[in-house]
Amino acid sequence: MIFQMALLTFQNVSKIYPPYFKALININLKIYKGDFVILTGPTGSGKTTLLKLIYREEKPTSGEIFYEDVPYSKLKKKELSLFRQNLGIIFQDYKLFPELTVYENIKISLVLSQKFVKNDKFLIYEYLERFKLSEKAQKKVKELSGGEQQKVGIIRGIIRDPEILIADEPTGNLDPSSINEILEILKDFHEKGKTIILATHDPIILNQNLGKTIRLNRGELVEDV
Ligand SMILES: Nc1ncnc2c1ncn2[C@@H]1O[C@H](COP(=O)(O)OP(=O)(O)OP(=O)(O)O)[C@@H](O)[C@H]1O
Ligand SMILES: [Mg+2]
Repeated sequence: MIFQMALLTFQNVSKIYPPYFKALININLKIYKGDFVILTGPTGSGKTTLLKLIYREEKPTSGEIFYEDVPYSKLKKKELSLFRQNLGIIFQDYKLFPELTVYENIKISLVLSQKFVKNDKFLIYEYLERFKLSEKAQKKVKELSGGEQQKVGIIRGIIRDPEILIADEPTGNLDPSSINEILEILKDFHEKGKTIILATHDPIILNQNLGKTIRLNRGELVEDV
């Protein structure tokens, strides 16, 4: 067997929110390039916290996370920003600008990514079409339904074609047929060789056997299949 270096490694990682709430306790795990990781567990078990540690919105209280073989704590600012450019994030709370239009919200994420896109208008409409949102392009985000906003959040996460996609409950507000559509989109994305880390308790997704399942309970990793 050829040695494959893990893309991300958690080594004895704990996260304590001040003053003393243990959100994650001694987590050890490895994620490889091309994995489709499903992170599950009850509300409050630490899924979002684990994802935030990956995209560095939070830092571990103890332990270390490695990107390939480099500890995060040793990543220089420039390396960290490069790493973030390879990362697409679908936030549990969408993080959209309510006063801007759907189109503008997506455009901003393309501009911020600094990735050169030849015809971004065409690309944005292609995605809107795929997500059945073309008619809403010029509507303000605050005028959309929760599920429609969630779809815009998903487009923002994947439109830059990142190498690693972090998706935090991306289907929480969607009906079963929309969930299945999103799943097809995520599967296609994964088939291009991308790495996906998806937090969910959606039974439709959990029943699909998409890849490795990691289960958290009260901050502890109880199952790593
Ligand atoms: N910034 C914070 N400060 C203090 N406690 C926090 C903070 N963020 C999360 N927590 C606590 O850490 C625990 C884990 O939260 P987290 O958001 O990671 O759970 P989750 O598994 O994503 O839950 P859900 O399924 O509801 O999204 C919760 O009990 C939460 O109250
Ligand atoms: Mg969460």
